[in-house]
Amino acid sequence: MITWKDDYSMGVEKIDNQHKHLVEIANKAYEVLKNDIYVDKFDKIVEILKELEDYTVYHFESEEEYMKEIGYDGYFLHKIEHKQFVEKIKSIDLNKVDVEQDKHLLEILNFIVDWLVKHILEKDKAITK
Ligand SMILES: [Fe+2]
Repeated sequence: MITWKDDYSMGVEKIDNQHKHLVEIANKAYEVLKNDIYVDKFDKIVEILKELEDYTVYHFESEEEYMKEIGYDGYFLHKIEHKQFVEKIKSIDLNKVDVEQDKHLLEILNFIVDWLVKHILEKDKAITK
């Protein structure tokens, strides 16, 4: 479970709102993980990963547009981090996930939360510093 903190805010409303939506997606993954009523979570996991991929692609484009608009000099390196995140999500082996769903969902969730918090605090906030 991840809770939005004011400290995550970079002061650009549009981007902050998109980051909040990413936090919501991570929390959806958490809800699925802790749910012990579902016997098979595979479809839910696939759905969340698809949503995460689609939304991050959209969000990263907005953020990259913003960096260009303000002439941010860290644009190129920042864009590489975005690309690596999307590639990591795309590279998740769904067959392996299906076999041990909770184990992989926990790993995915940890990855998303760690990446998101670190990226926002260290890289995104640097854009508006
Ligand atoms: Fe970013």
